Amino acid sequence: MLARLELPLEITQAPVGGAGYEASGKPLPDATLSLARDADAILFGAVGDPRFDALERSLRPEQAILGLRKALGLFANLRPAQVHPELVSASALRPEIVAGLDILIVRELTGDIYFGEPKGIRVVDGAEREGFDTMRYRESEVRRIARVAFEAARNRRRKLCSVDKANVLETSQLWREVVVLEAKAYPEVELQHMYVDNCAMQLVRDPKQFDVILTGNLFGDILSDEASMLTGSIGMLPSASLDARGKGLYEPIHGSAPDIAGRGIANPLATILSAAMMLRHSLGQPEAAARIERAVAQALREGYRTADIHSAGGRRVGTEEMGEAVAARL
Ligand code: IPM
Ligand code: MG
Repeated sequence: MLARLELPLEITQAPVGGAGYEASGKPLPDATLSLARDADAILFGAVGDPRFDALERSLRPEQAILGLRKALGLFANLRPAQVHPELVSASALRPEIVAGLDILIVRELTGDIYFGEPKGIRVVDGAEREGFDTMRYRESEVRRIARVAFEAARNRRRKLCSVDKANVLETSQLWREVVVLEAKAYPEVELQHMYVDNCAMQLVRDPKQFDVILTGNLFGDILSDEASMLTGSIGMLPSASLDARGKGLYEPIHGSAPDIAGRGIANPLATILSAAMMLRHSLGQPEAAARIERAVAQALREGYRTADIHSAGGRRVGTEEMGEAVAARL
């Protein structure tokens, strides 16, 4: 479908997650990691499959995405949540609350309690087991993700909301101090701080108050799922995970949806929009990215709907037909 734009894309495929485990006994096979290292960008399919839930943690499919993020230094996760005008009624919230919504969540992706050491399960008092993880952030980690968020805000509506739990957590206290220092370089951006519990509430009360939300790995994981539902379907949202030089991994924010696997009804738009983000952020092709986004918008305008967004009315189609509808409108 990109041939008409004459983009010289060299595409290689590699197994990862459950497929990686089946191919080589590891969720992130060495060959896959080395291909990913050599690539300019990675388009990632969702991981996760209940068939692998009984495996020990290091072999579970989720380790593939966590391993790629860490190994490639993909610290900046951009998760836009926009409501397409045609899908306003698919949202769980009232139309006037979500119409025109356009939020960008900037989630730190390689630190926090996800990766902090020590972590484990140990026996305490010789009697019972205790699970523990460590939440930690270095100043430099906060600084670099804050910069990404300020830069993004500067190119949008110039409002940045930094989300933390500074009333309880030391990590958040430091986070807040560093963000305030970074703000000095961006006087045109209005900075606000919000506790994560309040933010979770505000996202459903009045989501349009937000422009860019900056937050850590764990809070960003939770808030981005919440934000996605405002848009009607988690099946619509793309994401980018970038390193310091703009190389990135692109993936839909939805999971692998094992309950509908193989039935040809999944919504392909989040993946298609992820490819658009890839063209924009890593491959220097903003024109091609915009064309894909316009084609998606047009297919929606013309009423094409996969099952997850069908409550908004329109013509119900399967995965393949939706993909073809978009390709035909490029
Ligand atoms: C996400 C996912 C991952 C995460 C899982 C699959 C490890 O929920 O990308 O949001 O928690 O980061
Ligand atoms: Mg998540």
